[in-house]
Amino acid sequence: MIEGYSEEEFGTTVHAHVRPAEPISSIELLKGRQKELEEIRRALFAKGRHMFIYGDRGIGKSSLAQTAALQYQSSDSDIIQIGCTRTSTFYEIMQSIAASLVENLDSREIQAKTGINLKFFSFELLVKSSFKPEVPPVGNMEQALNVISDIREIHSEKPIIVIDEFDAIQEAEERYKFAEFLKKMGDSGIYVPIIFSGIAASLDDVLGGHQSSIRQLFPIQLSPISWDSRWDILVEALEAFNIEFDDEIKYRVAGISDGFPYYVHLITEHLLWAIYDDPDTLQIANFNHYNEALKKAVETVQEHIRKPYDLATTRHSQDFHHALWASADTSILHRNIDSIYASYGRIIRDLNHANPQEKLTPIDRKKFSQRLNTLTKPSHGSVLKKMSDNRTGWYQFSENMLRGYVRLLAETNGVQLWMDEAKVPKQLINPRPSPVGSSRRFQSSVPTGIGLKDD
Ligand SMILES: Nc1ncnc2c1ncn2[C@@H]1O[C@H](COP(=O)(O)OP(=O)(O)O)[C@@H](O)[C@H]1O
Ligand SMILES: [Mg+2]
Repeated sequence: MIEGYSEEEFGTTVHAHVRPAEPISSIELLKGRQKELEEIRRALFAKGRHMFIYGDRGIGKSSLAQTAALQYQSSDSDIIQIGCTRTSTFYEIMQSIAASLVENLDSREIQAKTGINLKFFSFELLVKSSFKPEVPPVGNMEQALNVISDIREIHSEKPIIVIDEFDAIQEAEERYKFAEFLKKMGDSGIYVPIIFSGIAASLDDVLGGHQSSIRQLFPIQLSPISWDSRWDILVEALEAFNIEFDDEIKYRVAGISDGFPYYVHLITEHLLWAIYDDPDTLQIANFNHYNEALKKAVETVQEHIRKPYDLATTRHSQDFHHALWASADTSILHRNIDSIYASYGRIIRDLNHANPQEKLTPIDRKKFSQRLNTLTKPSHGSVLKKMSDNRTGWYQFSENMLRGYVRLLAETNGVQLWMDEAKVPKQLINPRPSPVGSSRRFQSSVPTGIGLKDD
């Protein structure tokens, strides 16, 4: 129970701290990205420079792009932000940018300005029409540059543009037009910085050979957030309600998340509601709440995460679950069969230890290797992929974000997949008895045989 909050007040305050479903745009909530924010801030002092934020889905690209843009944008207007889709074209995106320019415009302010030199829009159209004028299509590079020139003239003191999910644009030609455009913008001397973000392993992935022609594009590659940033999200939310908690809860949530803040937000949100709903305790987070939160997190995880896992495992033997759990063990993203099979052996031992009545017999290495191979097939959601350099027997997840869900599921079954990474004082992750009254599925005891770094 949490005293002093109506459901609505509580929900609103929860949302002020945890955002599993939307990107973050404030510096206070953006954890563990100070270095990147500083890099962007400094890079943008150079006129003519643009940013490209890239990394895995869910790693925090949109959040960093928005927060960095808000930090740059002068307070006299909002940032211009455009999302891309599969079918987006360069000219369409430039037209959307022009459209968001007029959306934010106060025509009286424009009228009051003197000596405005518009190139894309006509002055009359902007100030005279009582409703928002129709935005003309952008049909060539020159017009695209004119849009930028008009933004400089009338948007704000320091405008900035965010182009999110750039990788979604399917036609490579359309993406390459941006490379050409940035170069032309540099030559023209009229400049508005653009922060691009996209899922990619490298700039080459999205810009092909054109990368070298745009020396002005400053790359920022995002990695998982650090351990302390992970638990900062949880700790600040709990502290906002004066809730006491066992430190082990924060380590576990941090470990499960694998550095993807989404999972920390999701589990913390459900943890807070579990405490709110519990009539028996006051302002305390205990392991029953934690287990309830994990269960809810599993049930409410985003569809794009659940679906591939379900495809991989539903109506197949339980080996597929265990093979996936084994693949998400340790912090190493690329692993060979021997190492994954060793994790598998450990997982089966832990499950048998947690539940001696239901003794599981491990499958042999040959069969296990077939299972891993099957998990790369579309029939099984293509959840794993082989390493691109064709080294046989090396695997990684197709989407690293899935590893967090796999860890979450394993944890609800009493198996921990992150202990090797926990660079935290060992005494803080003591084995503890399973919570009274919990079902086997949500046991949280630390299984025996798990070593920490300092062992
Ligand atoms: N640095 C961060 N600190 C706290 N939460 C974050 C951070 N980065 C992202 N998030 C949260 O993680 C989730 C995914 O972030 P998002 O920016 O949408 O990722 P991406 O654009 O890479 O897919 C969102 O719920 C967002 O609120
Ligand atoms: Mg995004």
